[in-house]
Amino acid sequence: MDNDKTALVGVVMGSQSDWDTMQHANRTLDQLGISNEARVISAHRTPDLLEQWIGSAPERGMKIIIAGAGMAAHLAGVAAAKTCLPVLAVPMPGGALNGVDALYAMVQMPKGIPVGTVAIGKSGAINAALLAASILSLTDETIAASYREFREEQTRQGEANSVPAEYAT
Ligand code: RP5
Repeated sequence: MDNDKTALVGVVMGSQSDWDTMQHANRTLDQLGISNEARVISAHRTPDLLEQWIGSAPERGMKIIIAGAGMAAHLAGVAAAKTCLPVLAVPMPGGALNGVDALYAMVQMPKGIPVGTVAIGKSGAINAALLAASILSLTDETIAASYREFREEQTRQGEANSVPAEYAT
């Protein structure tokens, strides 16, 4: 995160307890050279703050919102209701249903207010950042190059993967 620059991606989470998972979104964005910020804002504990943060996002230069929340998980839906920016939703693991509740709440948004929902937990946090990179790549060649390089490096690593020699063909 770079405090001196406009954050292209705003990462918001419902509780400080979500940071352990959501940090992977910010760290992936950092890795790709995409400016970002992280905030803890709850749709039910601090709804006015959420309205103010999401309402001022476009004028601050933000292009994409990533929202992580657990349990009833209305954060992404409420955020999406207040902006036309793309909102990507990350269901948090934990609680009695270990993230399945949050997944359903996010993925089952009624028609009219979309949230793009990714996998529960760390994989989802990373993929939300990669999706943000992919979307921003449409209009930003520097981010496109950085995202392409990430994908190519991942492919190189995949090709180098192997099993123990005695089982390899
Ligand atoms: C949600 O409730 C948060 O997003 C978090 O995942 C969950 C539990 O919050 P805490 O009780 O840990 O603050 O609002």
